[in-house]
Order: sequence, then C-alpha cells, then structure tokens
Amino acid sequence: MAAYEFTDHVYDVVVVGAGGAGLRATLGMAEQGLKTACITKVFPTRSHTVAAQGGIAASLANMGPDEWKWHLYDTVKGSDWLGDTDAMEYLAREAPKAVYELDHYGVPFSRTEDGKIYQRPFGGHTTEYGEGPPVQRTCAAADRTGHAILHTLYGQSLKQKAEFYIEYFATDLIMSEDGECQGVIAWKLDDGTMHRFSAKMVVLATGGYGRAYFSATSAHTCTGDGGGMVARQGLPLQDMEFVQFHPTGIYGSGCLITEGARGEGGYLTNSEGERFMERYAPTYKDLASRDVVSRCMTMEIREGRGVGKENDHIHLHLDHLPPETLALRLPGISESAKIFAGVDLTKEPIPVLPTVHYNMGGIPTNYWGEVLDPSSKDHDRVLPGLMAVGEAGCASVHGANRLGSNSLIDLVVFGRAAAIRAGKIVDPDAKNQTINEASVEKSMSRFDGLRHADGDTPTAELRLTMQKAMQQDAAVFRTDKTLGEGCAKMAKIADGVSDLKVSDRSLIWNSDLMETLELTNLMPNALATIVSAEARKESRGAHAHEDYPDRDDKNWRKHTLARINDKNTVKLSYRDVHTEPLTTQAEGGIDMKKIAPKARVY
Ligand code: FUM
Repeated sequence: MAAYEFTDHVYDVVVVGAGGAGLRATLGMAEQGLKTACITKVFPTRSHTVAAQGGIAASLANMGPDEWKWHLYDTVKGSDWLGDTDAMEYLAREAPKAVYELDHYGVPFSRTEDGKIYQRPFGGHTTEYGEGPPVQRTCAAADRTGHAILHTLYGQSLKQKAEFYIEYFATDLIMSEDGECQGVIAWKLDDGTMHRFSAKMVVLATGGYGRAYFSATSAHTCTGDGGGMVARQGLPLQDMEFVQFHPTGIYGSGCLITEGARGEGGYLTNSEGERFMERYAPTYKDLASRDVVSRCMTMEIREGRGVGKENDHIHLHLDHLPPETLALRLPGISESAKIFAGVDLTKEPIPVLPTVHYNMGGIPTNYWGEVLDPSSKDHDRVLPGLMAVGEAGCASVHGANRLGSNSLIDLVVFGRAAAIRAGKIVDPDAKNQTINEASVEKSMSRFDGLRHADGDTPTAELRLTMQKAMQQDAAVFRTDKTLGEGCAKMAKIADGVSDLKVSDRSLIWNSDLMETLELTNLMPNALATIVSAEARKESRGAHAHEDYPDRDDKNWRKHTLARINDKNTVKLSYRDVHTEPLTTQAEGGIDMKKIAPKARVY
C-alpha cells in the first residue's frame, strides 16, 4: 500500500453531509456551543435538498383547520403501518415549531394575503383522520422550497461559526475496538490530501441512494455514502425494500415535477383523455398517496392506455390553470417542463412517468437520530458516537411509504433533534478518544486497493449494469420471479467490484476514483434492497408484490434489518415496529383507536 499522510482534526461533532438534515444538525450543534465541523462532497447549497420543490409539511392551520394529530394519522396511514409510532408522533408534534424556526432564521416562504406562510395540498394529507377533505398543510417557497431552506441554513451555520470542509469526500468511519464511532476519514478532492477527523459524535446526513437505479429524480451525488460506510462496519440497514417512485418524473429525463403541481389543481390523464385517478381513488383522486398514484399510472400503461408513440407514459395537465397562478406558485417546474420536455405547460400537458425518488429505508435510528446497535437483544440499544439523520437514516417515520413534503420536515425535525440530544450527551470539556489506528489502516487499504484497481471493468460500466438490474427487477411492481432474478443478478454484479478498472491513479480531482468509491457505497444499498424485497412476502406501501397482493400484519408488520458481509452475502433479521406513541391520550396524545391498522384506501 502507498504511504498516506494525514492532517488531523479534533471536534466535538462532525456532520457528514450538508443537505437539509446535515445543515440543520450542524446549525443546532454549533448553536449549543459544540465545536462542529461539517464535511461535504459538494458545496452545501448544491446538496440534493436544493432540488426539493413542493414544500414542507406542518400543521400550521394557516389555510383552514388542521392539527398535529391529523398529521400523525396521515403519516401512520401513509407508512402503511410500518412507521415507528413514537418517531411519527415526534415528527408531527415538532413540525410547526421547526417550520417557525426556519421562518425566523429567514427562509423566504410564500405568503398568504394576510402575511401567513402559504400552504398547499399534497398527496395523502387530509383532515379529520382521513374523513374530511384534503388539507393545505405543505408550507412552500413557490416550488423552490428546498433551495430556500438550504441557503438559509448554510448562512445561519456560518453565523454560528460552524466549520465547513467543502469538497471533502468521507471515505469511512473510524471505529474503536469495541465498536464505538470515533470519527471519519476524508479525502480532500482538490489537493489529494487525506484527513482524519476525531469526534465525540459523528452524524451521517449523506442522503439517499437513488442512483442505484437507472432513472431517478435524485442527483448523481445520491450514492448512499452513509449506508455504505455503516454496512462496511457490519452494521445493518433497515427497511431497504421500500423505494419510493414519484408519480411525476419527466418522461425521458426523470427530472422532478413537484406533487405541488397536483396540489395546485393539476391532474393526470391516460390516452383516452380520462382522469383515471377518479376510478382508483374516488375520494382523494390525484392527491392520493404517491405509491398509490404511481401504481395506478403503471397499471394504465400496462393495460395499453399510456400516451405517446409507444403508449409508455402519462399526461400531467396544468394547462387549465391561470398562467398567473403557474408563474406565482410553480415557476421552477414551468422552466423544467420547457427545458426537459419541450413543453409550454400553460398550453399543453407534461409527459410524466413514475421515477425513483426516495428511500424510506436507511440506517436504523431512534427518534433522536442515534444509530441503533443490532447486536443488542432488543435491537434498540444505541451505538455510541454515531447518529444518522435525513434520508440516510431510518427513524422510522416513513415506514413503507413516505408522504410528499414529509421529507423536508423529517430533515429539519430530526436534524434539530440530533442537536438537542447531542447537547445533552456530548461533553465539550471531555477529551476525544485516541483514534484506533487499525480501523484507519483497514480503510486506507481499501482506498488504496480501489485507487490501484486494475481489472477489466470500467466503473461506469458496472454501475450501469447495476442500475439497469435494479430498475428492471425491483420496480413499482415486483414478483417472486423478478426479485429472485434480481437477487442472482445483483450478487454477480456486486462480485464485479473485484474486477474494476480505475485508470487515473492520481489523488487530485480524480473523478474516476471518486465514482468508484461511490459505487462501492451504492452496491451494499442495492444488495440490501433487492434481498430484503425478495424476502418480504406481502404488499405494503411502496413494496407492491404481485404474488402477495395483500398486507400481512400478522407476519410482516416488522422492520427488516439487512447486514452485508465482505463476500456480499446479505443476512436478514427483523426488528419490532414501535407501536406505542410518546404520549397517552390522557396526556394529550392521540386516541390509539384512530391509528389502529385498517385497509389503506384513499
Ligand atoms: O413533489 C415534490 O415536490 C416532492 C416532495 C417530496 O418528495 O417531499
């Protein structure tokens, strides 16, 4: 192995990732006086949160009646009863506080006539525990809400003197002999230097792994880096079989058209011009939950009612809405439709297709963001020194299916929760642990091996094979046959890592090596996804299994834990769903009868 020198850094907290969750955690940690570093492989305001369009859910009741218990009910139902009730209660209760904090930090939310934060309807968000009309719960900054949040949080973090390490790629966790997290190793992309960050708490906020698929709304940077780092330590990933397809990715490019488009009155049609969602979801129609709408679109296409020359997509209409509304509320997608579909949405429909958008699964945590230690009997013991928040984590608030606009609120509520918790358990006066050299050496040997990889397969080729296999075999609808074939294909593809060829051996701006490291992060995420999906013999949320079309609460209301060893073998175990809320009804909590499992219809 080549000799590598390190620059050493010592912090109370190191946050990896500067999207919404990473920045909210960074800001909260720094506000409490913890010496905080944020390491990010892209400039903070280019993190994927910048692409979040439609908004952030919170029961502010600015546009009509709403309450946190209705939000909790919708989230439980949206999750298809797989979410952890304590985490979901925490999310729904804390959401209004977290949004008003954003407002006070300076997020430029759109406003109502009387100056309140503007809120729009989104799929699956209802009133009266699903008995009333859709609610306007999604707070928006036009259709650039993520962009607005990211810029504000970055500015506030700088104000609090958080330190940023920008264009540093975190390669691995540093773990002590007895399994505590002690920090991270990072590679500085622009000068090739290596860095060791010692920390009392590491927070993984690395986002999802959408790029394990061929067509995704996710940025090319969404490579599941946190999941990869955790999996390499023999720790499990949770509920990876639940992959969300957003109903309205632009046909061809996969670029997102926000659900806010349907929130503002847009609707879907098939080749017969029929508003087919009225048939499938008579009450909430185009505003049914995302998994439901994606399945209905896929069924229309399968049954020959898709639009276009190849009858392989669906139309989204906004052309009936006043151009002033489109300009005011949806300026971003007006531009995207023009650029990526060549469509003037004031005059013609947008061609759309369900597209991979979000990973409900991730690193298992409690609702403070603390990573759970799977070796403990109850599966709920905390692993010291490590947190995971945002899409990288799995608290689990989204269960088997996330509601639109529950992602941005997840980022800020749990980024904030991680900071509150760290404020209690991280002692700024204590000394950092001495770094475990063996852990560093193991990681550098992997890094060096990939840097000098001299096989026959270019990284881009293996990545494409993986993306196509996942797209084909772990799709909107799954069967025993597709999943079985997918598992066999993915096992072979994962073994292909040993035959990778990296052509550039340098350390400065080596995108070949960086993409290879990213591929080795995508791979365990993809493997865990397909193997967990193959094992789950029921349909629940985003996991629509045609051989087992019903939800089976008796056998499958449980979280999957997938551990991957260095031979790419995936071992599964299961963890109980938390069915108890944080507060009883007598303490002001929800009536448990309201959230008891039942058929999920919209
Ligand atoms: O449709 C959207 O604007 C996406 C929102 C979300 O995924 O939460």
